[in-house]
Amino acid sequence: MRTLQPQDARRIETLIERMSLTEKLGQLTMMAAGHTVTGPVITGHSLDDIRSGRIGNLLNLIGAAPAREMQRIAIEESRLGVPLLIGLDVIHGHRTLFPPPLAEAALFDPQAWTLTAREAAREAAADGINMTFAPMLDVSREPRWGRTVEGPGESPWVGRRLAEAKIRGFQGADLAAADSIAAVAKHFCAYGAVTAGREYASVDVSDRSLLEVHMPPFESAVSAGVAAVMPAFTDFAGIPMTAHAGMLRGRLRRELGFEGVLVSDYNAIAELIQHGVAADLVEAAALALAAGVDIDMVSGAYLQGLPGALERGWVSAAQIDESVRRVLALKMRLGLFENPFGRGAAPEAAAALTERRRLAREIGARSIVLLRNRGDALPLAGGMRRLALIGPLADAPAEMRGPWWCAAQPQSQVSVLEGMRAALPQAQILHTSGVDIAGPDESGIAAAVELCDGAEVVVLCLGEAATMSGEAASRAHPGLPGRQQELAAAVLQRASARAIPVIVVLFCGRPLIVPSLAERASALLAAWFPGSEAGNAVADILTGRTSPSGRTPITWPRAVGQIPLWFGQRSGGRPTDPTGGPFSSRYIDEPKEPLFPFGHGMTYGRFTLSQLRVTPQSATAAAIVEVRVDIENQGSHRAEETVFLFTRRLKSRVAPPTLELHGVGKITLEPGARGTLLLHLPIVELRSLGPDLEPVLEPGAVEILVGPSADRASLLSGRLEVVP
Ligand code: BGC
Repeated sequence: MRTLQPQDARRIETLIERMSLTEKLGQLTMMAAGHTVTGPVITGHSLDDIRSGRIGNLLNLIGAAPAREMQRIAIEESRLGVPLLIGLDVIHGHRTLFPPPLAEAALFDPQAWTLTAREAAREAAADGINMTFAPMLDVSREPRWGRTVEGPGESPWVGRRLAEAKIRGFQGADLAAADSIAAVAKHFCAYGAVTAGREYASVDVSDRSLLEVHMPPFESAVSAGVAAVMPAFTDFAGIPMTAHAGMLRGRLRRELGFEGVLVSDYNAIAELIQHGVAADLVEAAALALAAGVDIDMVSGAYLQGLPGALERGWVSAAQIDESVRRVLALKMRLGLFENPFGRGAAPEAAAALTERRRLAREIGARSIVLLRNRGDALPLAGGMRRLALIGPLADAPAEMRGPWWCAAQPQSQVSVLEGMRAALPQAQILHTSGVDIAGPDESGIAAAVELCDGAEVVVLCLGEAATMSGEAASRAHPGLPGRQQELAAAVLQRASARAIPVIVVLFCGRPLIVPSLAERASALLAAWFPGSEAGNAVADILTGRTSPSGRTPITWPRAVGQIPLWFGQRSGGRPTDPTGGPFSSRYIDEPKEPLFPFGHGMTYGRFTLSQLRVTPQSATAAAIVEVRVDIENQGSHRAEETVFLFTRRLKSRVAPPTLELHGVGKITLEPGARGTLLLHLPIVELRSLGPDLEPVLEPGAVEILVGPSADRASLLSGRLEVVP
């Protein structure tokens, strides 16, 4: 992060010297403006609190005019004229929505991740926002957990790349620029490991899993210069993160070297009382400040509790000043002292908005994962005359937003119906929803079945409502909600009797457990929530205007009982016996294999990989090994293939995972064309954590595995010797 000039530091000290205790606590307080609601509403504050310096920061304020007015009051009408941090959850766009992070992760393309964050930052900054509570970096191997949709999926390696890319995009080259906003890496740490996937539940993971799985994305975020970090709501082995000095001051600040602002989660400081570790707001405030939390989001605990905590000697004036210093430094870095009205000064040009919609369409289409494509049911044949578009998500523009829709209006998304009509103007598109997304009504199923007759193809749009994933949206049954399964079964039966292909498009914020659809549908796609241009993006894929290239960043289980499930799990001493023998690691009532492995995703090409070369075959710590593989497109469509580079250490002192991800490459090939993909493997990346949890590079043999997904059978294998 850009370091401050000596004169900036002096200005901060002068300000702190002039501040009353209330003004200092105001800088450590962020209150909700209520334009959008992201947590329990706590009322009772007013504009006078900004004037008096009791509130120094806001969130959930939408619109350039109100943002400007709040900033004006802080600058012109408060005694010291300190500008406000104005934060919002700009998670996957602001007014224009891109797919949510899990869906974007399916691109495996850091440049694209940066680009969408940059556009989101521009659009939000044009509304006077200067801080986003993103990126969420919680690795999740837990489809029951609704917030899986907000993060990178199951791989810490992807989490690292997503962290770097998003922070670059939000913060830009210069945080002070009028189109840059401060990023907040959240939720530190291991929130994705909530017990049984239940929102807000306890987290209790081993130190190894903390260091191997959950911390790496935050380490990358700190290295990338993230402005702020948000502790998780959850407790970590009994200690709420908001009060966890060992994690916040210890691991985050001391070990990772984070010097930015720690902003609490929504009302999290007051919730220390509910956790059972604080008797009242005084104690809660003291615990959070002692742990290193700088800004109290919404709870008012710092304002109400810190004066008492100070009197009792539970916190020191120096601790308060330390936090105020960090908050002022961030405001300085954001350029708010020089130019408080820079963000939101002028509306964006229409051309910027048009270009952003174009990008949303492209990214939306690229995030879609083609899970199955029997008999090349897709792309749809040209000259299609009659198509049945069925399902509760076929004409649902508001749902296409997915969770955290920010300032996007419900109707500003393109529905699938609209997108398909635009893509196939000559075709008759018959539409009915059949059933609601949730709810018991089956009365529309018969009409939906009738609609199949005479159609050349049925497109079935099923899945979750936007509110079924995201915060506070854990699901014990992460399959199709309501009566959608019944609708699908009836439609599939009729269509199969008439030999009509059925294309199932799933809208979802998590992997859905849909083994029967995977078995019976002609084609199955995970469209996630494609955002503002959803319908056009889906139509681009179905018609073949865009060849699908998305790859699932998270394993799809076939049964809830398999969860948690992820690639590369340690084998144990009695690994699964492929012949089904007893006393091996398996279920007696369900295959151990997932429905779809990590990285799975088909294209309209037909790729074969051959000739894996690893050079050199023996390397020391300083080396960067080159891994090459030949790829040929034997299909009849131009397409992009994605190739993963995994490794497997054959022996180490700590049992090694069966696969570790180290790289991803992409190549686009015309039909019949061949190419060679080159991937780099820096040997230092093969370091692992030894028995003492210290990083170590152990000499010995490493298997290099390259291929289209984490399915072991699909990978080419080579060998490398790490030498001391
Ligand atoms: C969520 C955070 C979010 C905050 C502000 C909380 O409920 O956990 O992720 O940034 O609200 O809206």
